[in-house]
Amino acid sequence: MMDADLLILHAGQLLTIASAGEPKRGPAMSELGLVEDGAVAIQGERIVAVGPSEPIQRQYRAATVLEAQGQVVLPGFVDPHTHVLFAGDRAGEFELRLRGASYMEIMEAGGGIQSTVNATRSTPHEQLLEQSRARLDHMLAHGTTTAEVKTGYALNKAGELRLLRGILELDQRHPMDLVPTFLGAHAVPKELRDHTEDYVQQVVEEMLPAVAALWAEETASRPRPAPLFCDVFCEKGAFDLAQSRRILERARHLGLALKIHVDEFEALGGTSLAVEMGAISADHLVSTPEEELLALAQSSTVAVALPGTPFGLGQRHYTPARRLIDAGGVLAVASDLNPGTCYCESMPFIIALACRSMRLSPAEAIVAATLNAAHALGLGRHVGSLEVGKQADLLLLQVADYRHLAYRFGTNPVETVVKRGKLLE
Ligand code: NIG
Ligand code: FE
Repeated sequence: MMDADLLILHAGQLLTIASAGEPKRGPAMSELGLVEDGAVAIQGERIVAVGPSEPIQRQYRAATVLEAQGQVVLPGFVDPHTHVLFAGDRAGEFELRLRGASYMEIMEAGGGIQSTVNATRSTPHEQLLEQSRARLDHMLAHGTTTAEVKTGYALNKAGELRLLRGILELDQRHPMDLVPTFLGAHAVPKELRDHTEDYVQQVVEEMLPAVAALWAEETASRPRPAPLFCDVFCEKGAFDLAQSRRILERARHLGLALKIHVDEFEALGGTSLAVEMGAISADHLVSTPEEELLALAQSSTVAVALPGTPFGLGQRHYTPARRLIDAGGVLAVASDLNPGTCYCESMPFIIALACRSMRLSPAEAIVAATLNAAHALGLGRHVGSLEVGKQADLLLLQVADYRHLAYRFGTNPVETVVKRGKLLE
């Protein structure tokens, strides 16, 4: 008999999503590595055995045994695109949009991202973290065990650094693992309205070096498995292709990994730029031209679809994810949680929506929200599947059939969350 700390036995359907370190593409996205009557043995923060219950039960004894009683057990969700660190809300703008105003019109009139920037800048640090922590609690309760979090609601050097530090502080305080992204180029701040080039200059010359220095200091004392990312909102009314390239080139030079918001509304060539620059992910991809989508599918850049955003905006066009999968691309899904376009803390809802809006099968949507999402954060070897050696981040659902994750919506199917081997109550 071997000792484990935690044993989970008799899952009706255990979804391992095993992949030996690679993301899943094409038909492999339908393979969940489903084990009937499955079990997981955990020691410390890691998985030491996974497979059918019978042999695991014979080989391991543990202080804590969790009877899954026929429930679904699967890896915790990885949400690879969020703007969860913000103050205030934009419920008023939501109502304006219902009456016909567009997202970009509101932004051009000084609302949108700028209004959250105003609220975030003027909120004391502790209060800002507390508001955001409450949202992290909702995410975790809905099964998100790892999330990316972007800066981007301060838009000046001191403020962006404060947000980056805030993400690192929240990561320390909260059971969820948080992966920070510097998104200084989220919008042009009102002080520099019509002086986008000056702001780009600030991002490149002042903010990025300071961000890289903060990260070097942080990781010297506490090494982290994921890189620091730099992201840009490449869009008409935000940053054009040349400006996006300048920012990302500097970021890459300073050792940051890359992400880009591309083709959310209009196509500017950002998807090709992401592929050319070896970005880890290209996100949104709603209006991406066919040619660029196919080039993306053939690359190792992960395509991150955010179906909650067109849904949140009441739009009818979604990422052509079916086309991307069929062309062999790596697809992940994320919430895009933010106060403007998508105030959604639930990955199960994103999965349900992905199946309906983008014609994914439930299995494809689950792979997109776990393993492939982990690859969108450079964490494919650490989380996203239930394999020996990986971090023990997993969920027990209230249901016996994994398809209920997509089939039902609006209630939370997650019953139990295990994070780094700890049972969370
Ligand atoms: O991904 N498009 C840019 N960023 C967010 C929206 C942020 C906001 O409106 O506050 C997005 O949709
Ligand atoms: Fe976003």
